[in-house]
Amino acid sequence: MRTTHQIIFIILIILCITLIMKYTSFQLLSGLGATQNTTFRPTDESSTSFTLADFISLEEWTSLLALVEWPSPTHKLSSPVEATDPTKCLFTLVSPDVNYTVGNVLTVQVVARDATGKPKTHGGDFFQAKIYSTEQRASTYGEVIDNYNGTYTVQLALLWPGPAKVLVRLIHSSEAVQVLRRQREQYPDKVFFTGYFKVGNVEETVVCNADRSAWLAGSSKSVCKFTDLGTGELWFCQKPPSLPCDSWVHHSFGGYRANVSTTENSLLSKSSTDVKIPGSDVTVNVLQNISKTSKTNKCLPGLETPVPAGFYFQDKWTSLLCKTQSFTSADQVSACIKDKQILMMGDSTLRQWFEYLLTKVPSLKKLNLHTSEQSGPFEAVDTTANVRLEWRAHGLPLRTSKTPWADLHYIANEMKDLAGGEHTVVVFTIWAHFTTYPLTVYVRRLSIIRKAVIALLQRSSNQTLVVIKSANTGYKDVYGSDWLSWQLDRVLRAMFKDLHVVIIDVWQMTSCHSSPDNIHPPAVVIENEVELFLSFVCPK
Ligand SMILES: *[C@@H]1O[C@H](CO)[C@@H](O)[C@H](O)[C@H]1NC(C)=O
Ligand SMILES: *[C@@H]1O[C@H](CO)[C@@H](O)[C@H](O)[C@H]1NC(C)=O
Ligand SMILES: *[C@@H]1O[C@H](CO)[C@@H](O)[C@H](O)[C@H]1NC(C)=O
Ligand SMILES: *[C@@H]1O[C@H](CO)[C@@H](O)[C@H](O)[C@H]1NC(C)=O
Ligand SMILES: *[C@@H]1O[C@H](CO)[C@@H](O)[C@H](O)[C@H]1NC(C)=O
Ligand SMILES: *[C@@H]1O[C@H](CO)[C@@H](O)[C@H](O)[C@H]1NC(C)=O
Repeated sequence: MRTTHQIIFIILIILCITLIMKYTSFQLLSGLGATQNTTFRPTDESSTSFTLADFISLEEWTSLLALVEWPSPTHKLSSPVEATDPTKCLFTLVSPDVNYTVGNVLTVQVVARDATGKPKTHGGDFFQAKIYSTEQRASTYGEVIDNYNGTYTVQLALLWPGPAKVLVRLIHSSEAVQVLRRQREQYPDKVFFTGYFKVGNVEETVVCNADRSAWLAGSSKSVCKFTDLGTGELWFCQKPPSLPCDSWVHHSFGGYRANVSTTENSLLSKSSTDVKIPGSDVTVNVLQNISKTSKTNKCLPGLETPVPAGFYFQDKWTSLLCKTQSFTSADQVSACIKDKQILMMGDSTLRQWFEYLLTKVPSLKKLNLHTSEQSGPFEAVDTTANVRLEWRAHGLPLRTSKTPWADLHYIANEMKDLAGGEHTVVVFTIWAHFTTYPLTVYVRRLSIIRKAVIALLQRSSNQTLVVIKSANTGYKDVYGSDWLSWQLDRVLRAMFKDLHVVIIDVWQMTSCHSSPDNIHPPAVVIENEVELFLSFVCPK
């Protein structure tokens, strides 16, 4: 084997030298590109400006695609009345009992129908289900299983004693999901950004994005291409009228410009999005199970999130993953984070954790770094407890107010600059700003981050605590939707599955909570999220 490889290698080198002597470097590059089949991507319409094969294997990409595969309608929609109509759907309890005890599981059957009441015959509707009790401020999440024939099955665990009711929502019809998918893959430019170029008193603003295909098709407009040296991440701006590319100073969100047809709009309309479906209104009464088992395993990296991952009771989340703790007082939190350097990177949903910790622990003092209120970076310290807490936005793309682009660091670059160790906690979340791009863009970003995580863990002998906050429920439109977030989240979990990292599942926590879905969950949810996080920072 080895000698064969060596021979091939030598032949290749000779070939290369010959080629270099014969052609210009441009020809050499295009020649290599043509002989290697490395340009796999889900659709040919999207034109991401990189080759995914440089980041992950074809095998992994194929398995990720299989993971997020979503059934398509069997034929093209000829009228909006053929779309799944939440008011015509129905859920029923399968063989209900008179009495239940804690630990039992309730099975729910969902039947999808179109606006004429005709049962659907294919899958793909995006439902969310939970069991809850308003009086006890209790709830838990149930995964909706697609039977691919117009019916869906949900298993709901009965986890607290007392009354409980089932609730099933249609978030998007299967037809709406197709719109979201097509928009995601075909129009990466539906959210665009502004680049501010400045020399002296001259400022010029242009359109920027992670993908240049939208402006380059059929035009000869010049672009400024920015390549991050640490990660290879790319960013593009139209060339400013007079200023040079290297005079780029600020970045901001530009605007929304999705190209959505009237039919597509009606499929995504409010009246058919996030609607409770009719069904069994009975209250099941759950009796106390005396032999209630409590979790005994420690909260350590590498645990896989079960369904359900836990439940609310009196608005307090009990995890079924591991032995969590309660951090009611500032002192308890302070003792937990003592002697830690906590670096948080991500979007505004993780900024909520930073803000929560600041209000919870008065001894944590925030420095005024005179940075953007939206994208930071922020830093807080407690010199007595020797705590340093940072939050910063993840790198571009980022929808934010005008901010120096140099303040927006890629997660992988930040990690590369850390030695790590037992006093280091790294937390990140990344999804909400990627819902408008083809899946390849997200997978590429994650693969770069994963490489940095592996290196960090390796050089610190797994002593560094790496925590990944999952996506949460929120938006339901073409720019950001629970279906889009859910897809990204599945990819993220799969790509970090076998690593020595903690995944904090906030999807279930936000999907089943009594408050309406909100991209920025209310304080009561954030408190539970942070308590779960802290349980991993100082496991008992
Ligand atoms: C290139 O890869 C794609 C995606 O796996 C595959 O379908 C295609 O057959 C390959 N083409 C060649 C020439 O190997
Ligand atoms: C259900 O629970 C009630 C109240 O505890 C009890 O009286 C009744 O016998 C139970 N029924 C069955 C079928 O177990
Ligand atoms: C109580 O819960 C345990 C664990 O879920 C189960 O094995 C047991 O059968 C339950 N007991 C009763 C009386 O339902
Ligand atoms: C749909 O599939 C489920 C699971 O395989 C099955 O139980 C059910 O009877 C099927 N329903 C119809 C209408 O085909
Ligand atoms: C909008 O979409 C339609 C249909 O897909 C297409 O024909 C049209 O060219 C698009 N317009 C723009 C500005 O992209
Ligand atoms: C770090 O964790 C990974 C995954 O759990 C494991 O395979 C590896 O052996 C660990 N390395 C050390 C040095 O403990």
